[in-house]
Amino acid sequence: MAKSMATAMAVLLVLGFAMAKVQAEGAKQAKGPDLEHLMESMEKAKRAIARDVKEKNITESTLKAIADMQRDTLAAKDAVPEAIAKLTGEAKTKALASYRGMMNNIVRQLLDLEDVLGEKKYAEAEEILNAIKEIEKQGHKEFRQEH
Ligand code: HEM
Repeated sequence: MAKSMATAMAVLLVLGFAMAKVQAEGAKQAKGPDLEHLMESMEKAKRAIARDVKEKNITESTLKAIADMQRDTLAAKDAVPEAIAKLTGEAKTKALASYRGMMNNIVRQLLDLEDVLGEKKYAEAEEILNAIKEIEKQGHKEFRQEH
Protein backbone atom coordinates (compact mmCIF):
# COMPACT_ATOMS: atom_id res chain seq x y z
CA MET A 1 0.00 0.00 0.00
CA ALA A 2 2.69 2.42 1.03
CA LYS A 3 4.58 1.48 -2.10
CA SER A 4 1.66 2.18 -4.45
CA MET A 5 1.07 5.52 -2.68
CA ALA A 6 4.68 6.43 -3.26
CA THR A 7 4.41 5.45 -6.92
CA ALA A 8 1.23 7.54 -7.32
CA MET A 9 2.97 10.53 -5.67
CA ALA A 10 5.95 10.13 -7.98
CA VAL A 11 3.69 9.99 -11.06
CA LEU A 12 1.84 13.13 -9.91
CA LEU A 13 5.10 14.93 -9.32
CA VAL A 14 6.41 14.10 -12.80
CA LEU A 15 3.09 15.16 -14.35
CA GLY A 16 3.21 18.41 -12.43
CA PHE A 17 6.68 19.23 -13.70
CA ALA A 18 5.71 18.31 -17.26
CA MET A 19 2.66 20.60 -17.16
CA ALA A 20 4.65 23.48 -15.69
CA LYS A 21 7.21 23.10 -18.49
CA VAL A 22 4.52 23.11 -21.21
CA GLN A 23 3.00 26.24 -19.67
CA ALA A 24 6.35 28.01 -19.51
CA GLU A 25 7.09 27.16 -23.16
CA GLY A 26 3.65 28.45 -24.15
CA ALA A 27 4.22 31.74 -22.35
CA LYS A 28 7.60 32.12 -24.06
CA GLN A 29 6.16 31.51 -27.51
CA ALA A 30 3.30 33.92 -26.92
CA LYS A 31 5.92 36.66 -26.49
CA GLY A 32 7.15 36.10 -30.05
CA PRO A 33 10.69 35.30 -31.15
CA ASP A 34 13.27 34.65 -28.44
CA LEU A 35 15.17 37.94 -28.56
CA GLU A 36 17.85 36.87 -26.10
CA HIS A 37 18.71 33.85 -28.22
CA LEU A 38 18.68 35.84 -31.48
CA MET A 39 20.93 38.54 -29.99
CA GLU A 40 23.43 35.93 -28.81
CA SER A 41 23.47 34.47 -32.30
CA MET A 42 24.00 37.95 -33.83
CA GLU A 43 26.88 38.52 -31.42
CA LYS A 44 28.53 35.24 -32.45
CA ALA A 45 28.20 36.06 -36.16
CA LYS A 46 29.47 39.63 -35.66
CA ARG A 47 32.62 38.39 -33.91
CA ALA A 48 33.34 35.83 -36.64
CA ILE A 49 32.83 38.41 -39.40
CA ALA A 50 34.99 41.04 -37.64
CA ARG A 51 37.80 38.51 -37.18
CA ASP A 52 37.73 37.42 -40.84
CA VAL A 53 37.66 41.03 -42.09
CA LYS A 54 40.61 41.91 -39.85
CA GLU A 55 42.56 38.91 -41.18
CA LYS A 56 41.38 39.62 -44.74
CA ASN A 57 40.32 35.99 -44.87
CA ILE A 58 36.85 35.93 -46.40
CA THR A 59 35.59 32.37 -46.91
CA GLU A 60 32.25 30.59 -47.37
CA SER A 61 31.98 30.52 -43.59
CA THR A 62 32.24 34.35 -43.43
CA LEU A 63 29.47 34.65 -46.02
CA LYS A 64 27.38 32.17 -44.04
CA ALA A 65 27.89 34.25 -40.87
CA ILE A 66 26.74 37.38 -42.73
CA ALA A 67 23.64 35.58 -44.06
CA ASP A 68 22.89 34.20 -40.57
CA MET A 69 23.19 37.66 -39.06
CA GLN A 70 20.91 39.20 -41.72
CA ARG A 71 18.29 36.52 -41.00
CA ASP A 72 18.60 36.84 -37.19
CA THR A 73 18.35 40.64 -37.35
CA LEU A 74 15.14 40.40 -39.39
CA ALA A 75 13.77 37.84 -36.91
CA ALA A 76 14.74 40.16 -34.01
CA LYS A 77 12.74 42.94 -35.70
CA ASP A 78 9.62 40.83 -35.10
CA ALA A 79 10.25 40.72 -31.35
CA VAL A 80 8.91 43.23 -28.84
CA PRO A 81 11.51 43.88 -26.13
CA GLU A 82 10.26 44.08 -22.54
CA ALA A 83 11.12 47.77 -22.41
CA ILE A 84 8.60 48.38 -25.21
CA ALA A 85 5.99 45.78 -24.22
CA LYS A 86 5.28 47.67 -21.01
CA LEU A 87 4.51 50.94 -22.84
CA THR A 88 1.10 51.90 -24.21
CA GLY A 89 -0.45 54.15 -26.84
CA GLU A 90 1.60 56.66 -28.78
CA ALA A 91 4.79 55.99 -26.75
CA LYS A 92 4.64 52.30 -27.67
CA THR A 93 4.01 53.03 -31.36
CA LYS A 94 6.95 55.44 -31.45
CA ALA A 95 9.30 53.09 -29.60
CA LEU A 96 8.40 50.16 -31.87
CA ALA A 97 9.04 52.25 -34.98
CA SER A 98 12.42 53.31 -33.63
CA TYR A 99 13.33 49.72 -32.65
CA ARG A 100 12.36 48.32 -36.04
CA GLY A 101 14.15 51.16 -37.83
CA MET A 102 17.40 50.25 -36.05
CA MET A 103 17.04 46.61 -37.09
CA ASN A 104 16.41 47.74 -40.68
CA ASN A 105 19.58 49.84 -40.55
CA ILE A 106 21.61 46.85 -39.41
CA VAL A 107 20.22 44.71 -42.23
CA ARG A 108 21.03 47.48 -44.75
CA GLN A 109 24.59 47.67 -43.43
CA LEU A 110 24.93 43.88 -43.61
CA LEU A 111 23.80 43.85 -47.24
CA ASP A 112 26.40 46.53 -48.02
CA LEU A 113 29.01 44.55 -46.09
CA GLU A 114 28.33 41.52 -48.25
CA ASP A 115 28.74 43.63 -51.41
CA VAL A 116 32.01 45.34 -50.41
CA LEU A 117 33.56 42.06 -49.26
CA GLY A 118 32.73 40.59 -52.66
CA GLU A 119 34.97 43.37 -54.06
CA LYS A 120 37.65 42.85 -51.38
CA LYS A 121 37.18 46.40 -50.05
CA TYR A 122 38.40 45.70 -46.51
CA ALA A 123 38.69 49.30 -45.33
CA GLU A 124 35.07 49.92 -46.28
CA ALA A 125 34.09 46.68 -44.56
CA GLU A 126 35.75 47.92 -41.33
CA GLU A 127 33.76 51.17 -41.56
CA ILE A 128 30.51 49.25 -41.99
CA LEU A 129 31.32 47.04 -39.00
CA ASN A 130 31.92 50.17 -36.91
CA ALA A 131 28.59 51.60 -38.05
CA ILE A 132 26.86 48.34 -37.02
CA LYS A 133 28.52 48.53 -33.59
CA GLU A 134 27.27 52.12 -33.20
CA ILE A 135 23.68 51.03 -33.94
CA GLU A 136 24.09 48.17 -31.46
CA LYS A 137 25.31 50.60 -28.79
CA GLN A 138 22.41 52.96 -29.42
CA GLY A 139 19.87 50.10 -29.46
CA HIS A 140 21.10 48.73 -26.15
CA LYS A 141 21.10 52.18 -24.56
CA GLU A 142 17.47 52.72 -25.56
CA PHE A 143 15.89 49.30 -25.27
CA ARG A 144 17.95 46.86 -23.22
CA GLN A 145 16.93 46.73 -19.58
CA GLU A 146 19.27 45.85 -16.79
CA HIS A 147 18.01 42.71 -15.06
C1 HEM B 1 25.18 44.05 -34.01
C2 HEM B 1 24.06 44.24 -33.40
C3 HEM B 1 23.71 43.66 -32.06
C4 HEM B 1 24.33 42.66 -31.35
C5 HEM B 1 25.53 41.84 -31.75
C6 HEM B 1 23.59 42.50 -30.12
C7 HEM B 1 23.91 41.61 -29.09
C8 HEM B 1 23.19 41.43 -27.93
C9 HEM B 1 23.54 40.53 -26.86
C10 HEM B 1 24.78 39.63 -26.82
C11 HEM B 1 22.57 40.62 -25.92
C12 HEM B 1 22.51 39.86 -24.58
C13 HEM B 1 21.66 38.61 -24.75
C14 HEM B 1 21.58 37.85 -23.43
O1 HEM B 1 20.89 38.32 -22.53
O2 HEM B 1 22.23 36.82 -23.33
C15 HEM B 1 21.58 41.58 -26.38
C16 HEM B 1 20.43 41.91 -25.72
C17 HEM B 1 19.51 42.81 -26.18
N1 HEM B 1 19.63 43.60 -27.31
FE1 HEM B 1 21.07 43.48 -28.72
N2 HEM B 1 22.55 43.39 -30.10
C18 HEM B 1 22.59 44.12 -31.27
C19 HEM B 1 21.77 45.14 -31.65
C20 HEM B 1 20.65 45.54 -30.95
C21 HEM B 1 19.76 46.59 -31.37
C22 HEM B 1 19.94 47.45 -32.61
C23 HEM B 1 18.74 46.63 -30.44
C24 HEM B 1 17.56 47.54 -30.38
C25 HEM B 1 17.15 48.31 -31.35
C26 HEM B 1 19.01 45.61 -29.46
C27 HEM B 1 18.21 45.32 -28.37
C28 HEM B 1 18.49 44.38 -27.41
C29 HEM B 1 17.59 44.07 -26.30
C30 HEM B 1 16.23 44.68 -26.06
C31 HEM B 1 18.23 43.08 -25.54
C32 HEM B 1 17.68 42.37 -24.30
C33 HEM B 1 17.03 41.09 -24.77
C34 HEM B 1 16.37 40.28 -23.65
O3 HEM B 1 17.10 39.80 -22.79
O4 HEM B 1 15.13 40.15 -23.71
N3 HEM B 1 20.19 44.95 -29.80
N4 HEM B 1 22.01 42.06 -27.61
